[in-house]
This record gives sequence, C-alpha cells and structure tokens, in this order.
Amino acid sequence: MDEQLQIAQTLQAVLPDLTIDDILNKLERPKDSEHGDFAFPTFFLAKTLRKAPQMIAGDLIAQLDTTGYQKVEQAGPYINFYMDQGQVGANILTEILQDPANYGRRNLGHNAHVTMDYSSPNIAKPMGMGHLRSTMIGEAIARILEKEYYQPVRIDYLGDWGTQFGKMMAAYKMWGDDDEIAKDPINTLLSYYVRISKEAEDHPEYDDLGREWFAKLENGDEEARRLWKWFREISLERFQRVYDMLGVDFDSYSGEAFMAPKMDEPIQLLKNKGILKPSQGAQIVDLDKYDLPPLLIIKSNGTTTYITRDIAAALYRKRMYGHVKSLYVVGAEQESYFKQLRAGLKEMGFNWYDQIEHISFGLMSLNGKKMSTRKGNVVSLEDVLNDSIRLARQQIAEKNPTLANADEVAKQVGVGAVIFHDLKNNRRNAIDFNLDEVVKFEGETGPYVQYSRARAESLLRKGNKRDFSTTDLTQIGEAEWEIVSFMGQFADAIERAAKNYDPSVIAKYALELAKRFNRYYAHTRILDDEALRDTRLAVVQAVSHVLKYALLMLDVQAPDEM
Ligand code: ARG
Repeated sequence: MDEQLQIAQTLQAVLPDLTIDDILNKLERPKDSEHGDFAFPTFFLAKTLRKAPQMIAGDLIAQLDTTGYQKVEQAGPYINFYMDQGQVGANILTEILQDPANYGRRNLGHNAHVTMDYSSPNIAKPMGMGHLRSTMIGEAIARILEKEYYQPVRIDYLGDWGTQFGKMMAAYKMWGDDDEIAKDPINTLLSYYVRISKEAEDHPEYDDLGREWFAKLENGDEEARRLWKWFREISLERFQRVYDMLGVDFDSYSGEAFMAPKMDEPIQLLKNKGILKPSQGAQIVDLDKYDLPPLLIIKSNGTTTYITRDIAAALYRKRMYGHVKSLYVVGAEQESYFKQLRAGLKEMGFNWYDQIEHISFGLMSLNGKKMSTRKGNVVSLEDVLNDSIRLARQQIAEKNPTLANADEVAKQVGVGAVIFHDLKNNRRNAIDFNLDEVVKFEGETGPYVQYSRARAESLLRKGNKRDFSTTDLTQIGEAEWEIVSFMGQFADAIERAAKNYDPSVIAKYALELAKRFNRYYAHTRILDDEALRDTRLAVVQAVSHVLKYALLMLDVQAPDEM
C-alpha cells in the first residue's frame, strides 16, 4: 500500500473528524531523514481542540496503532513516522521491476489535449541556440505531460510570414547569387538579411522596400510567392536535420503563413464586438485597462501583424484540438506580448483565454557571449551539437577505448549533454553554454547521469541476473534505503514537473539518484555478499530503470554502455 495512505489511515483512526484527504494534505516529508520519513504537524488542530499543538501530538501518539511502522515518535508539535524499511522498500522495488516504463505515472491528464507551441523558428534564418531552449524545454514538457496521461499536440509554428520576409526578398533581389545559395543556402540567405538590416541604418528606403515586398506577398504576387516557397523549403530541410539529431517530431508544421489567409474571422469578431478602433491609419484594440500596449491588428499599409495571426491561430487550435491548456514555449522577452494575446482573447469574449500560458525562459549565451540573429553573431545549433558529439567521442576514447558502437554512443552522449544542460536549471534562469563543462562525465551533467546508469548496467552484466521475481526484496539495509526510498518519490517529482511545466525537477531528481547510487556503489560490495547479492542487484536494476526513464522524459538517451 501507498505509504502516505497507510499513515493517513492510522491517523484517521484517532482523528475521525478529518477526512483522509485532509490528512494527506497536511503530511510533510522531513528534509532530514533523521526526523522520520513523514511528519504530521498538529498546529492546525489547536483551535478546534483548544489545546497546545505539543499536547495534541502527545495525546494522539498515545492512542496511535503503531504496528506496521519501524517507529512513531513525537517531536514537539510533530508526529514523526518512520516506515518499516523492508516492507516499504520491497513494495517500491516490486513496482519498478514489474513495469519500469510505467513506474511513477499518476493520472493528472485523463487524456485531455494540451496544445504545445514550441521551437517555432523563423524561416530563412538558421535555428540559433535560442531556439534550442524552446525546442528542448517544449519537448521535455510534452514528454512529462504524456507521463501524466495528457495528450500533447506538438506544433512547430514556423515564423514563415511577416515583414522580415519582405526584407529578405528585397535583399535577394539586390544581391542574390543563386550559385552561392545552392552551396550554402541558409548562411547565404542569412548574410543577405544581415546586410540589409545593417545597411538600412544608412538607407531607410531599404525598410520601405522590405515592406513593399511583404505587401506583395500578402497580395499573392506570383514572384513573391515563388521566392517565399523556396526560402521555406530550404529552411525546413535544414531544421529537420536538427530535429532528427534531437529526436523531436511535430504533429504540425503549420506556421504563420498557414494563418495568413485566415484573418477574416478574428477581424470580423473584433468588429462585431466593437473593439477594433482606428488609430493613425491603423486598426487597434485598446488594452489600457490591462495596463498593456494596444494590439496592432491591421497596419496603416493594410497588412496584418504577428499578433493578428496569433489570435487566428489561437481560435483555430481551440476549435481543432479542444485543448484544456495551450502552452507557448517562448523566451522571456515576449512576456508582455503573451499578456496582450490573452487580454485580446478575453476582450473578444473567449472565456478560455486563461488556458493560454506563456512558458517563459531566460536567455542563452555561449561562452559568456550573447547571441543575436540580426547582428549576425549566430551560432548554429547544428554546429554546437556536432562539437559536443566530438568532445563526447574523445572522452569515450579515453574511458572505454574498446567500446563497440562508440560513434553511436558519442551521439547520444554529446546531444544528451547539451539537452541536459539546458534543462537542469529552472527555465526562467539565463544559462551559459561552455561545452567543455557541459560534456564532462563528472559534476552535474547529463553524461554523469548516463555514465552512472551505464555503471549500473555493467554491474548487472557482471552479476548476470535480470529476473528478481523470486528474490526477497525486504532484505534492504540503511545503504539501500537511501536509494530505494528516494526512488519512491519519483511519482511526486513527475507530478511536480508536470504541474509547474518544469523539466528541471526531473533533471535534478536524476542527478540526485545518480549521486546516491554512486555513493552506494563506492561503499557497498554489491556482488560479494552471497546472502544479499540478489537483493542488491535488484536495487541496481531498479536504479537503472528509473534513471533511464527519467532521462527519456527529458529527451536524453540512455546508452547501456559508455
Ligand atoms: N517565431 C517566433 C520567434 O522566433 C516564435 C513564435 C512563438 N509562437 C507563437 N505562437 N507566437 O520569435
């Protein structure tokens, strides 16, 4: 039985006025295991029972039935429960070993749809390190939600429309060299974009040219359409290579261009509500009462905007997927923008506006340097991944020169290292990338977790045992309890990660489990004690399973050997 439920029932027997849920909500997990596995605070009873918490704890403990516990102790106003480690541990191990892939799953989701907008790079620019954050955070959240039986709908909302496209076309018309483009499409196109952005500082007419080309595109001009299609194809092919490396696959690649012909509905709705107002030749929605800048719906030159398309996309998604949540994994710099989007939908009378949630994240720098597409100091994600794989390959050559599939493992370790580094801190923090640190096999890195698991696998190969169905799993001592009780918290970690849309909870959990396992491995002779060997190997097997599924939830692979 679930340990917390067991305690709640024990307590309810002496507190009949409380429900099981009341008690479960009050139960705490002491930071320090010296204070027991669970603690029940009595402060909240003081008022109704008209007694000091300390006394309440004393009275309760005198009446409690303590069978099934190692001990139950009073500590001031708290009642501390120490579980019977053998029994609790055996239950946890059995659960893991019987169905490792489903261990730790609760069911917050009940198969409800969650629309997830992430990655969403802009066409005709390379996918920079900034988009890595969105892609990885988004993919990890999708996987975490799947664990809780939500159904994520993965959408790559490509930035394939907008004035920057006009700029790109204007630049291409001035300087375009098809041979050069054929050789290195993205970088060549980017160089045009960088050049026109820079030269526009002295030639404001370039900005006008860009706007004109975009207007042509919106009006279906044939040449503009053809160029647009071509830029899009080149870019998508290139993005796909990166997605393949990362193991990410979307349900939809419909981006801004897909929405562009669907502007009539939102505009008509805004008009019907009477909230679309002219302002200096443009059409806006005033958001003063939200303390936000107005929504610019139609520009003075008649073109629609990024936010108009986002409103159309929001309507489309709600209708198409019937989601209970709609997540946008986008950098913190667009915080106010997403507030505007929500406010706009609220003004339009959609009561589901609050399902829209901006999953914000901090800036990413490389070796302490900021990155910006417009200035051209962009590092392509593909280059970073390839560098990381190379470093991983070197480390493997040193540590395990005879490893059979070393190149494949180097990919899993190199790519996994980058992903793990991105996810291990709270997403709102800014992060810096220093590949030498990221790919280390020690410290708080992805390779460290992978390596710990590979160690567990190697022990299991040496021990030559995989079936623990007849093993006595209650034989666990203090050293095993340190690990097993922590594995018992996996479901809590997943639930917390899902509720807060926070993959770092899982990354930190994996690091802590790897740490505990390595401590165990260093101090316990796992294979040598005949009597305890099988129980210990069962613990090792369980650790390997839990680490593997924790890593997979982050979209990090778990090689058996490295
Ligand atoms: N393409 C945008 C950018 O790179 C991100 C799009 C985010 N999604 C959205 N629905 N606005 O900044």
